[in-house]
Amino acid sequence: MRYPQYRPRRLRRNEPLRRLVQETDLSPRHLVYPLFVVPGNGIRREIPSLPGQFHLSVDKLPDVAREAKSLGILGVILFGIPSRKDPLGSEAYDPDGIIQRAIKELKNSVPDLVVITDVCLCEYTDHGHCGVLKGETVDNDATLELLARTAVSQARAGADVVAPSDMMDGRVGAIRRALDEEGFSDVSILSYAAKYCSAFYGPFREAADSAPKFGDRKSYQMDPPNWREALREVAMDIEEGADIVMVKPAMPYLDVIARVKEEFLYPVAAYQVSGEFAMVKAADRLGWVDGNRAMMECLVAIRRAGADFVLTYAALEVARILGGG
Ligand code: PBG
Repeated sequence: MRYPQYRPRRLRRNEPLRRLVQETDLSPRHLVYPLFVVPGNGIRREIPSLPGQFHLSVDKLPDVAREAKSLGILGVILFGIPSRKDPLGSEAYDPDGIIQRAIKELKNSVPDLVVITDVCLCEYTDHGHCGVLKGETVDNDATLELLARTAVSQARAGADVVAPSDMMDGRVGAIRRALDEEGFSDVSILSYAAKYCSAFYGPFREAADSAPKFGDRKSYQMDPPNWREALREVAMDIEEGADIVMVKPAMPYLDVIARVKEEFLYPVAAYQVSGEFAMVKAADRLGWVDGNRAMMECLVAIRRAGADFVLTYAALEVARILGGG
């Protein structure tokens, strides 16, 4: 491969040639759309920290779900903001909780859309941590039972996939056992296997009202400098029964996505988190980057690194662009 015999520019000459040698695809089927569900009726309120995203009451979900479906998006992931919070996050596993009602509504109205649910307590606890407290620390083993109960109640409501995001040790195994015991062996587990303790969750915590009231999540979420630890986390989750493993955030951790993809024969998901999305939006608003192009470039990069699909707040807008609509 030596110039002038080889000239890489030959294949970049025009659009059809470039598309012919394109190595990575980004299409609506690669995108999962996150939805924030709030109590009440007739609510569709823009989330200030996530431009173009909305707090939706249960009755408003079907419209959005139908739109996503019509754009070729195959799945949504649900986050709930409960009407009351307590130390044990009990609305998370209440059969009539916000998410359980949301799942039923979606399954009734758009049955063939994949419904993924976040399994975590932080939106439901009054202290904002992802598990039960013992003093000022999060008690791993006491949390497992509540996470398992949450996953089972979501499965009972009709969830196709449950996605634990708490980063407690052993939660995938605890959830798998509980699901199987209750007759939900067909419900899949999408594990947030390598979830880092990240500054990029800021806008989400405002949207989900889930910021910890004291301290931080460093004792359970992963330390950003580590990649080998991520592979151990993924290996453990697969061993415990994860069907899909996720890396989160996405763009600051492309190396981790690539290594997980290389190392394991399991589907890999990545979460382009709220801060990644908000940064592109903010820079676009300031006129510093072309937001649409930047968003596409980020998402194709995440796919190129090895993600089979991407959870992104940009799912609808990107699917519209991809569909030419
Ligand atoms: C719940 C959860 C978080 C996100 C997804 N599930 C927040 C956190 O861990 O603090 C972040 C998603 C985002 O920033 O878009 N534990």
